[in-house]
Amino acid sequence: MRKGQNVFAGRSLCVVNDFSVDEQLYLYEKTRALKAALTGGGEARQFAVADPTLGVYLIFLEDSTRTKESFRNAAKFHGVKVNDFNVQSSSFNKKESITDTIKMLYGYSARSMFVIRSKLEGTSRWLEDSLGVYARRNDRDPPAFINAGDGKHEHPTQEFLDEFSFLEQLDWSNERIHLALVGDLCHGRTVHSKVDGLKVFGEVHVDLIAPDELALPEHYESRMTANDFQVRRFASIEEYLSQADVATIWYFTRLQLERMGEEVLEKAPMLRRAVTFGQQFLPRLPEGTKFYHPLPRHREFPTIPFFLDNLPVNGWDRQSINGYYTRIVEIALLSGTLGQDFEGEAMVRPAYLDDFVEEAVVQDGAPRDYKVGIKPVENGIVIDHIGRGEDIGEIWDHIDKIRRIMRLNHRSSHGVYHSSSDRVFKGIISLPDILEFDERQLKMLAAIAPGCTLNMVKDSEIRKKYRLHMPPRIYNFDEISCKNENCISNPRNFEDVRKEFYRSEKSTFVCRYCERPHNFHEIWDV
Ligand code: CP
Repeated sequence: MRKGQNVFAGRSLCVVNDFSVDEQLYLYEKTRALKAALTGGGEARQFAVADPTLGVYLIFLEDSTRTKESFRNAAKFHGVKVNDFNVQSSSFNKKESITDTIKMLYGYSARSMFVIRSKLEGTSRWLEDSLGVYARRNDRDPPAFINAGDGKHEHPTQEFLDEFSFLEQLDWSNERIHLALVGDLCHGRTVHSKVDGLKVFGEVHVDLIAPDELALPEHYESRMTANDFQVRRFASIEEYLSQADVATIWYFTRLQLERMGEEVLEKAPMLRRAVTFGQQFLPRLPEGTKFYHPLPRHREFPTIPFFLDNLPVNGWDRQSINGYYTRIVEIALLSGTLGQDFEGEAMVRPAYLDDFVEEAVVQDGAPRDYKVGIKPVENGIVIDHIGRGEDIGEIWDHIDKIRRIMRLNHRSSHGVYHSSSDRVFKGIISLPDILEFDERQLKMLAAIAPGCTLNMVKDSEIRKKYRLHMPPRIYNFDEISCKNENCISNPRNFEDVRKEFYRSEKSTFVCRYCERPHNFHEIWDV
């Protein structure tokens, strides 16, 4: 990245990964300088946007104290137009969509930045997409969006203030961190954001302390492992302190048992006990240990009890105040006030090449005895190797899905057979009336039955053969949808979002908005 260009200006911050590791480190460096200036009586004017034409809108569809008030104060520091949108008395009560609401607010300022908290996961990403199109259509600069917490998904600005606080404790060394995550790791979005936020450290050791009912979802833990974090699991604080290798940074979260069923509620006292710090544990903490918490604490059942407030272990008060400084810098970066002296690797959005169709070799143009029922196929398409190696039930399921989703209501036959070369099961569909598939159909087929082959038969000979791989991206099909009911793109939320999935590791598809993984069967509605 060349000095002088501003890579931050005009961008949105929807998830932690919207900033590269170098960009995150730059944010911490600037925050450190700002905090030193503001607390030490130095000059801080160079951090301020000072543009009254910039409108910063606080749109909190879920309750908040810290995030909302720190952003409000940060926006005031900048001397911009601060708009506190009153959700309770707004036309949301008349079932207006958030997309329509934001389009209207966007018209009120020359430049806009929206800070959005929502129960619906992926809201900021969707608004970034849709308002980007709207801005282009109206020949205006697109607004910036900051995700202030979306459901169980992410809370990137909390993550940045958390990491800033850890770095402060570690005397600004990002070589190594050993962190204990304690509490409701299942529902806590601030914990989920740690999967990417901790990548600023060279070596990461994470201890997960939670009973099974509150455990970190498997896909987040496997992403931690993929990021080369050393991960250990413990069912309780008692179990954790019964071994020698104890972290000096502990991150607690509030229990969100109300989100769980009756069965779990019955176990509430036991679950709370497992992750609540007790007086008896104090002598077993390593010297210099600090506790952190995104807050708020539950006043009846705090996982960090109040007796700890005035002890040196209290890191959460300073952490909470750090939100003011990090958020000043985030507004300064996205508005283009800071960033000109950034040197490092900027975030690059992945490109998705449509590389899912591979031409395969046809063996000497040899005829194959593909049949429709008992008749050989003279001209048409034969889909072969469907679900090869899977059990018979799964192969029939693939065949059924291919036929229903692709609406293959033609003269045809299908079945499950042994391969001629070995005894492995596979499915075959013969389509004598279809001579080719278009790109859209190929993509559909690849997504439903990756690994299958497509044989183009002419005059009883296979003239061309293609092997289909799982496409890197599936989008724009009416027949797909995210199955997370809390995702902004889920049809029951009526935001008319274009559905989009990306292929990730382990052959799963990740929703563009809520990032929930789905296997390829799940994304289809039929
Ligand atoms: N940490 C946090 O998001 O707190 P609020 O819910 O008070 O904003």
